[in-house]
Amino acid sequence: MGFRSRALLVLALTLATLTPTTATAGSSNVGPPAQEPSAARSEGLAPTPPMGWNSWNNFGCDVSAKLIRRTAEAMVSSGMAAAGYEYVNIDDCWMAEQHGPDGRLLPDPDKFPNGMKTLADHVHSLGLKIGIYATAGTETCAGYPGSLGHERLDARTFAEWGVDYLKYDNCNNQGIPAEKRYSAMAEAIEATGAPIVLSICEWGQNSPWKGWGHEVGGQLWRTTGDIRDTWTSWTGILDEQVGLAKYSGPNSWNDPDMLEVGNGNMSTDEYRAHFAMWALLNAPLMAGNDLRDMDEATRRILTDEDLITVNQDWAGIQGHRIRDDGDQEVWAKPMSDGSVAVALFNRARTNTTISIPAERLGLPSASHYRLRNLWHDTESTSTGTIRGAVGAHSAVVLRVWPRQGEQLAPAHALELRAPEYVEAGESFTVTTTLHNDGRRPLHEARMRLHVPDGYIVGNGTAAHTRLVRGGQSWQQEWTLRPTGARRTPGSQSVEVSATSSFRAGDDTHTGRAEQEVARVSAPATGHIEVSSMPLLSAENGMGPVERDRANGYGESGDGATMSIAGTEYATGLGVHAESVVRLHLGGECERFSARVGVDDQYDGEGSVGFTVRGDDRILSETGTLESGQPAVLVDVPVPDTTILELRVSDSGDGDYGDAADWAKSRLSC
Ligand code: GLA
Repeated sequence: MGFRSRALLVLALTLATLTPTTATAGSSNVGPPAQEPSAARSEGLAPTPPMGWNSWNNFGCDVSAKLIRRTAEAMVSSGMAAAGYEYVNIDDCWMAEQHGPDGRLLPDPDKFPNGMKTLADHVHSLGLKIGIYATAGTETCAGYPGSLGHERLDARTFAEWGVDYLKYDNCNNQGIPAEKRYSAMAEAIEATGAPIVLSICEWGQNSPWKGWGHEVGGQLWRTTGDIRDTWTSWTGILDEQVGLAKYSGPNSWNDPDMLEVGNGNMSTDEYRAHFAMWALLNAPLMAGNDLRDMDEATRRILTDEDLITVNQDWAGIQGHRIRDDGDQEVWAKPMSDGSVAVALFNRARTNTTISIPAERLGLPSASHYRLRNLWHDTESTSTGTIRGAVGAHSAVVLRVWPRQGEQLAPAHALELRAPEYVEAGESFTVTTTLHNDGRRPLHEARMRLHVPDGYIVGNGTAAHTRLVRGGQSWQQEWTLRPTGARRTPGSQSVEVSATSSFRAGDDTHTGRAEQEVARVSAPATGHIEVSSMPLLSAENGMGPVERDRANGYGESGDGATMSIAGTEYATGLGVHAESVVRLHLGGECERFSARVGVDDQYDGEGSVGFTVRGDDRILSETGTLESGQPAVLVDVPVPDTTILELRVSDSGDGDYGDAADWAKSRLSC
């Protein structure tokens, strides 16, 4: 039996003796609180998921001693270190292109002029640890010297420098079995006697979670390909974590890749949801942003004490999905004290409300439950319904304890429902509901609607009721009518929001909910370039959807002229798989046409599939198109179509090189 199996067995046996209903990894059963682990049980280099920072997501190859020093200092001064972050990890591109005369890896002398030992000493002097990157292949992914066949010497070099953590990558692996390559490095590390964490980065290709990852000596292993700073990317990775919870535990963590929080391409709500889901997954929390220049919203997400407590719970039971209703999901993670952390996750572009009985979370049946909202730090009591009013692309995260908190305010949620879009100049209806999931009533309850400029509500914007009884809800409907102007200049969406208040005991409680509502109008008549139209929504695998140019890897406008198999196109949309662009046609258009294919700018490895849908019906599908294949003409009738959806998939083989063009995309309306 390997170390991993032993560790899990010890954990399971200990929990079994402590709790009649056993809490095993991945199970949704929770029992009474277990005790803190003994020193013996928590031994190992990663008893809880490692926390730190890694250079790759934000800096790519732009690494240097200066960056690492300043980042380590910022980790301390920003409060990240106090929150639990400790590893400062240098990713690819730190090496010189040639080995030294003695065959040793050398740091690039321009980037790291004083060598690695001096840098490691500085990081250690701050009370932090340092990590480095190497590859179980002949060259790193960026083309620097690989460690395959040099494991002993390289491990010794790292140990002599004082390295505490090694991320060991998979590029250029010569087809040698992963187990062999990774165990060679693990043995080499062990031979040094240095306590170096081994992070296996073979992208989940050989299912390291199934046993070999830990057997060979890894403490964590990537489960997927690389994350990017997009909603599409991290939610895709999240989907791949389903079913893996049972393979994770102390010193054996599933790694869904590093964090993108704060890198700039997502909203604060999206970053919060990403961080919360990674916390529940027991993911290693490796910040991937620029710690030297962090805004307050980012800092607050990364240092949230409640979420970090969930992630670092000593029992190490990974959260798992317990409900999947399409856009609405519920994930739960049993905690060692008998509570459950739960994420109510909304993938839709409009608000929703998600509720689930406490028993479904694996909690015992009880007359009352204490709920803590982990982002808002508020507490309340429920008789058994666990509910959250969840904004678009957001997660409400709660921790729920059975039989606690009876004296707290009744659990409540303010729900605001609004359409995703309205025709400019048309009226629309918004519903607000105040739910009471407690036993005691809400007194003197009020709801107020905040109406965007350009709209009025006929019968007032405030409502009042004396009482909302326990277990009941109070609902109001509001009709917003446009005032004279058909369009708020420069604005394609409006924000509708509502606030609520009520009294419970001596306290007044308030709530707020909001949603963006897109304002659309029918396209002009004639032939229209799609790239000149407003997009109702745009999700993209890398960077933003580009107009009249190809998609570069990151920033807006960084792509070249669109080009498919050598033919250039001046107009169209440049996207990257997985991508979904939606256009509002309002039933006013006749045909859609485009020339589609993999853009030429990458290195010939892309392959994608294009799909056109009209109001959820498939109108056209290309099948798989490879890089270098001539453009395919898509030409479809779209009469009576309200929403046209342009989708690009990675054709099932990962999204490497999958920049794709909807070139010359046109509508006749
Ligand atoms: C691979 C890894 C990434 C990063 C890069 C560096 O793609 O999966 O996390 O380390 O290599 O080149």
